[in-house]
Amino acid sequence: MSRRPVNPARRFADGGGASFTSALHQKSRSSPYLSIGLVLVGALLLIGYSYSNSGGFSSDTNAVSKVEGDISCTAEVHRAIPILQKAYGDSMHKVLHVGPDTCSVVSKLLKEEDTEAWGLEPYEIEETEGHCKSLIRKGVVRVADIKFPLPYRANSFNLVIVSDALDYLSPKYLNKTLPELARVSLDGLVIFAGYPGKQRAKVAELSKFGRPAKLRSSSWWIRYFVQTGLEENVSAIKKFEQAAGKKSYQPSCQIFHLSS
Ligand SMILES: *[C@@H]1O[C@H](CO)[C@@H](O)[C@H](O)[C@H]1NC(C)=O
Ligand SMILES: *[C@@H]1O[C@H](CO)[C@@H](O)[C@H](O)[C@H]1NC(C)=O
Repeated sequence: MSRRPVNPARRFADGGGASFTSALHQKSRSSPYLSIGLVLVGALLLIGYSYSNSGGFSSDTNAVSKVEGDISCTAEVHRAIPILQKAYGDSMHKVLHVGPDTCSVVSKLLKEEDTEAWGLEPYEIEETEGHCKSLIRKGVVRVADIKFPLPYRANSFNLVIVSDALDYLSPKYLNKTLPELARVSLDGLVIFAGYPGKQRAKVAELSKFGRPAKLRSSSWWIRYFVQTGLEENVSAIKKFEQAAGKKSYQPSCQIFHLSS
């Protein structure tokens, strides 16, 4: 069901690249048969690699490499999808993801059976891949500032999943944005937020997000939800934890399940 192509694909890529280069280096020294053989092997590996890329692995690979070590909660969404499916079942039918690299999450969700997915990219996209461009052209992915009312009707989605987005909002904007996220979702809102001390955006990323991430503790978030009248969905939390336990899944981000 869920493919985990990232590491194998990359290792394969490295291996392919390396043998191709060494094949070229050895060409001058060793026998012609050997070098032709090596070049052929290198070429086959390269063809295999580009084939695996065109098979749709590339978006996942990019998502993870881009967020590795800095803003990683969007990558965490990728890992959590099978668990979310267990916790939300039919509510995974129409999903909106809000966060950076949303094209990668939307592409992954669209591969799941019975799942329609949309994405909202809160920051400008600099280098857009062809695949992401086409999602934007089709209106599946939109680029919009989440400090303003969201461009969707009430209850448009069963589930809204947010990652790496709310950490960048001050309480003043959170007060506007969180009710908006709840407005467009029918069955629930899942928030992936960074742990204080664990996630840090690189300095180079800051201009994009406008302000440094304010990573808040779980008690801060829960107090905030209570203050603003948002309720945690106890049944969803239980189902999620059960499914996570079965698959030995340990998130590297805080995950909150709110009722809409
Ligand atoms: C956000 O909303 C809560 C609850 O309505 C309120 O107590 C708090 O003062 C608001 N914060 C800001 C910065 O507006
Ligand atoms: C809580 O989550 C479950 C999915 O586990 C969902 O079916 C239900 O509608 C949610 N309840 C509320 C009140 O949002």
